Amino acid sequence: MTDANALPNFEVFEATPDAIRQAAAVIRAGGLVAFPTETVYGLGADATNGEAVARIFEVKDRPTFNPLIVHVADETQAGQLVDFNETAQKLAFAFWPGALTLVLKRRDDSPLSLVATAGLDTVAVRVPAHPTAQALLAAAGVPIAAPSANRSGYISPTQAIHVLMQFKDGQGINVVLDGGACAIGVESTIIDVSGDTPTLLRPGGVPVEDIEAVIGPVAIGHTPSDDGDIKAPGQLKSHYAPSIPIRINVKPEERQRGESMLTFGPDMPRRGTLNLSKKGDLREAAANLFTMMRALDMPGIRGIAVVPIPNEGLGRAINDRLQRAAAPKGVETDADGEPKYFDPIGIIEI
Ligand code: TXA
Ligand code: MG
Repeated sequence: MTDANALPNFEVFEATPDAIRQAAAVIRAGGLVAFPTETVYGLGADATNGEAVARIFEVKDRPTFNPLIVHVADETQAGQLVDFNETAQKLAFAFWPGALTLVLKRRDDSPLSLVATAGLDTVAVRVPAHPTAQALLAAAGVPIAAPSANRSGYISPTQAIHVLMQFKDGQGINVVLDGGACAIGVESTIIDVSGDTPTLLRPGGVPVEDIEAVIGPVAIGHTPSDDGDIKAPGQLKSHYAPSIPIRINVKPEERQRGESMLTFGPDMPRRGTLNLSKKGDLREAAANLFTMMRALDMPGIRGIAVVPIPNEGLGRAINDRLQRAAAPKGVETDADGEPKYFDPIGIIEI
């Protein structure tokens, strides 16, 4: 049992070795720590402690218990939780630590809480590369379940300040470790390698082309909840959404009055416009995506128009997130593969 009152309440620390040690103690005591990874900030709890993991759902205001990504220090620790196979080994060798999440069969003797994995017989595992995440995992000595550290339905945080803005009073978060801006800026690529056919469940920080170069062709999944089957993991259509409408594949000349614009590639600076990457670099664009969507998400702006983004490399992850942000709201909005309740703020047009 955890005495939550004995833990700090929404303390923000620069991610020094000392602060990381304190944060690891909070994790071990069943508390919640927001921490940087190279993709986005996560909201972490001890993945073997059901009560602690349940608190993540409570804080994020997630209406359902969806399975979370379990972060581990290395492949050895992952091997205590899931059954590795040859494909998984090749991918782990090539991309861990890094922005790749592997879905694998849960071991019978896995100590993971069923809350973290939503009772499934598979587990999504990842070894993050960010030095703060690595140090936290090493010091905590337990696997850390962590979804992105945003409220259900909103854009994932890529800076500590985004976490602070989302949870003004902490709402149960004990510590926020500030490790600067996330270098990749979009969530990890999720690939299911638990069966015979490797299947891409979510494009993300590792381009699928790079994965195919290691293991050959990958099937394109279709997560069960894309289908509306919400008891299963995955993502619903509307996702990562700012509070104002967003239109995608809009050419600059098609921009409407009152809209701000996200552009990509060489471009004349224009009023109300932010450029994801002037050099046309998809990595830079991914790293800027969520921060720029937040910057344009303000009252008085009618909506955000986004120019077409090349659908290759990290462009796939960018387009996936943009499509979800642009999907109609109010029906099944979601930030983490869970349904979201109707949010009237989302449809006010100014
Ligand atoms: O980059 C990331 O992946 C970030 C950082 C914090 O690591 N985490 C993240 O977690 O994006 P979250 O909870 O926002 O997204 C996890 C996704 C959900 O769509 C969930 O359904 C899926 O992973 N997932 C988890 N376990 C799964 C499983 N056993 N099978 C299939 N999908 C699973
Ligand atoms: Mg998320």
